[in-house]
Amino acid sequence: MSDGSHFAAAWLALREPVDARSRAGSLDHAVAAWLATRAAPHGRAVSVLDLGAGSGSNLRYLAPRLGLAQQWTLLDQDAGLLAQATRQLPSLPDSLEVSTRCADMRGWCEAPEVLDAWLDGVELVTASALLDLVSQPWVEALAAAVSRRQAAVLIALSVDGDWQLDAADPDHDAASQRAHEDQWMRRHYRAHQATDKGAGAALGGAAPEAMASALQAHGYRLQMADSPWVLQAPADRALGEALLEGWREAVSEQVPDAVVEVERWHAARLASWQRGELIIRVGHRDLLALPDSEGHDHG
Ligand SMILES: C[S@@+](CC[C@H](N)C(=O)[O-])C[C@H]1O[C@@H](n2cnc3c(N)ncnc32)[C@H](O)[C@@H]1O
Repeated sequence: MSDGSHFAAAWLALREPVDARSRAGSLDHAVAAWLATRAAPHGRAVSVLDLGAGSGSNLRYLAPRLGLAQQWTLLDQDAGLLAQATRQLPSLPDSLEVSTRCADMRGWCEAPEVLDAWLDGVELVTASALLDLVSQPWVEALAAAVSRRQAAVLIALSVDGDWQLDAADPDHDAASQRAHEDQWMRRHYRAHQATDKGAGAALGGAAPEAMASALQAHGYRLQMADSPWVLQAPADRALGEALLEGWREAVSEQVPDAVVEVERWHAARLASWQRGELIIRVGHRDLLALPDSEGHDHG
């Protein structure tokens, strides 16, 4: 899945179609309408900055849904993923220009002028599958910077720290034992999420609310929507296997003394998943923040 903040291209490719079917379409319509009011009077391309863009999944999803000429900058610390993104651009009826910026976002909390420079001329700041990795100072620095520019913010697919493995099992005792074990895994997985993932002590599942509060403090109007993954084998078999493996690795790292219990949990759930007995639900949140139409910064 990932090694700290380094993400495997294969993992990003596996999740892309599930991300696309899970995202909250209502937020795409709202941001497209807002951008149209910005761009249309001048007949020019809107400028979009994609943070933690990886191999370009967010661009491939969102650009065709905006319905106007666009100029994207894909920002990531991984040059290999960015190169892959530029090889897989969507084709649009309107013009699309894409450039990349290979940079580490960690520095901007101490140097807000760096972020201000990146945001120069930008009307939409977007990200997907990123927010759980970032820290509170990162969130506050971003909210302050976007409000200086009065840019819109669309952040999709932020994990909220919740996941469930639902099984149709008539045996009540077995089901409650499984629920107890899953809860134990979830608790340690959440603790693991809160370690540094590349942008300070990570907010993990608390990130969507933290980002929303920071933007509201600057007078932004917020829309939040659930965008959960609901996975079932055989269609989503490989992604489910990767998730179970990711949870196994994270909790083994977090609680090294409990490796035997973690291995037993993993073997049992993997077997149930492969037999098609489980539905895996992973909680995600999408967030759209539009600036106060009067342009006042409340921060
Ligand atoms: C889970 S991936 C999501 C990629 C893409 N947005 C998607 O939806 O497929 C997170 C991305 O954030 C990038 N990233 C993490 N920490 C970073 C940092 N401090 N500076 C720049 N990029 C970072 C990683 O390289 C990775 O590409």
